[in-house]
Amino acid sequence: MKILAIETSCDETAVALLEVEGDESTVRFKVLGNGLLSQIDIHKEYGGVYPALAKRAHAQNLVPVMESALSQGGFSKNGTTPVPKELTEILTREPELEKALRAYLETHAKPEIDAIAVTHGPGLAPALWVGVNFARALSLVWNIPIVPINHMEGHMLASLAQKDGESYVVKDAKLPLLALLISGGHTELVLMNDWHSYELLGRTRDDAVGEAYDKVARMMDLPYPGGPEISKLAEKQREEGKTYSFELPRPMIHSGDCDFSFSGLKTAVLYILKKHGALSGEERAELAHAFEDVVADALWRKTERALEISGARALVLGGGVSANVNIARVFKKQMTEAFPEVHFSIPPRELTTDNAIMIGLAGFYRARKGEFSTNVEADGNLVLAG
Ligand code: KG4
Ligand code: ZN
Repeated sequence: MKILAIETSCDETAVALLEVEGDESTVRFKVLGNGLLSQIDIHKEYGGVYPALAKRAHAQNLVPVMESALSQGGFSKNGTTPVPKELTEILTREPELEKALRAYLETHAKPEIDAIAVTHGPGLAPALWVGVNFARALSLVWNIPIVPINHMEGHMLASLAQKDGESYVVKDAKLPLLALLISGGHTELVLMNDWHSYELLGRTRDDAVGEAYDKVARMMDLPYPGGPEISKLAEKQREEGKTYSFELPRPMIHSGDCDFSFSGLKTAVLYILKKHGALSGEERAELAHAFEDVVADALWRKTERALEISGARALVLGGGVSANVNIARVFKKQMTEAFPEVHFSIPPRELTTDNAIMIGLAGFYRARKGEFSTNVEADGNLVLAG
């Protein structure tokens, strides 16, 4: 099955073309084309993502990003696609996108694609809507069905993928499967009891872990996104065998459930910075190191608890923060020592942060089940499990 996948939930405009085959026992997929444009430079000065700017940038980027993905996949200028008049209605809020799409369709015939997968939530509603409307427009002009995808399911399924030569493979997934999903907007422990049947075991009560990374980085005058910046500083300290004297609170460790909280930690960093005044380069690195240790410990302790109560046979980490080397290392060590019988995996590095490949993969599973929609709507607060 050939799937065109679209992802615009946050600050990456991503379109991928996937060739996927298999069933729940083994899925194999090849990335035929992958276009991705990051808006990091646009949002840098705000220290976070600014929704109105994200929406505009997605509208400008979608056609070129799709064109790149499709031409990598062998669909280049080769004819024309007639445009029904309803197109204007679908893209009424995105006139610029409509113009770019019309120009594209004038010189490109309909590609042989079986389905269009699009992220319809969770994320920034204005950003999601651009992707959803674009998918609806393509569905109309090409007469190809749409599968709406939950962004978090994309992250989760990407965590099961392993590189296998030129392709990726998802196989031998052990159920129940516990996923720790950690990104800029989410921190949750989700149990997949059966394929696509989810149960929420724990979540953050305030900030997401990626958000804490980004906010703390901002307080320390590090650029956006803060996760990789803090990680670099802390990792260097570890390599040099350095220690630190900063003491940070270990949030919610004794709460007796699987919930997280990161806003107290963020406030503790703020107090340190206020009390201390300007930090030297060395002190800043020490603080980053201390922060990372507390984060990894908090994530591990709640995951450990969730593993115990759920009896999960596999654990995966997913979402942008799962790119963090320290978290991966801490989890690997703890899993080997405490849960050697539980299968543990993290996503291939290129699939950790937002991308459309994961949306295409989830799209395949959903399309196999016939979950097409003729009336997709964006939902910024969409949940995997309530
Ligand atoms: O999944 P993602 O790309 O977008 C959302 O769906 O939110 O995650 C982005 C988040 C940002 O907060 C970023 O700072 C964080 O992931 N991040 C990291 C690392 N790489 C990205 N956090 C810690 N360490 C990293 N290496
Ligand atoms: Zn994400």
